[in-house]
Amino acid sequence: MTGYRTAARLFHWIVALLVLATIPAGQIMIQEGLTRSVQDTLFIFHKNVGVLILLLVLARLAYRQVAPPPPLPAAVPDWQRRVAWANHAALYVLLIFMGVTGYLRVRAGGFPIEALDALGIPPLVPESEPLEEWAKAAHWWGRLVLVALIALHILAAVWHGAIRRDGVFSRIWPPVAR
Ligand code: HEM
Ligand code: HEM
Repeated sequence: MTGYRTAARLFHWIVALLVLATIPAGQIMIQEGLTRSVQDTLFIFHKNVGVLILLLVLARLAYRQVAPPPPLPAAVPDWQRRVAWANHAALYVLLIFMGVTGYLRVRAGGFPIEALDALGIPPLVPESEPLEEWAKAAHWWGRLVLVALIALHILAAVWHGAIRRDGVFSRIWPPVAR
């Protein structure tokens, strides 16, 4: 078998789908003129799925220690290995950053995170306006960096899969290893 194991592939594609839904939800929910019920639904989705993404990414990183990524095909030049490594590392950092700043923004503002509240998990930070404002700005800037990294990542994946056809794309696709 070449490529990532099924568990790593499933982590990748579940997180990718959730992130690609969470970004537009976050973007739309802060627009003017939405009805209250649409806005509430998007906020509940965004906050709770955002926390789920954070937990999945941490679990993925732990699993990565147990089952490290397979070696890249020999034909991939050194500079591409370095760029890919940096891109993946930055994606992990940014996903964690977005999850943490989103959490801080909401909890420091004294707002609910429905799934955590239902599980009886209390806020980990006290209410604080300066923290709320800082986290809000950090979350706003972070999404710009995250979107740029995802764009680069998808362009590289399509280039490998459709133009170079060098076996990099099939390392992670399909979501269940053959
Ligand atoms: C929000 C969306 C996405 C995120 C956050 C994301 C993140 C990541 C990360 C962190 C890795 C490294 C996995 C590891 O070694 O632990 C990875 C690998 C990979 N991703 Fe994504 N990904 C996303 C979407 C996509 C999409 C849409 C495609 C295809 C069009 C794709 C194709 C790939 C490929 C081919 C690899 C394997 C690269 C290699 O062999 O080193 N990803 N992705
Ligand atoms: C990987 C996870 C996440 C991504 C990709 C993400 C992405 C985004 C984006 C694109 C926006 C719109 C731009 C902005 O105003 O910042 C946004 C806003 C927001 N996000 Fe997230 N988010 C994530 C996690 C979270 C979490 C875990 C929470 C809270 C528990 C959260 C709470 C919020 C809130 C409250 C806003 C509105 C900010 C405002 O007051 O203007 N996000 N997010």
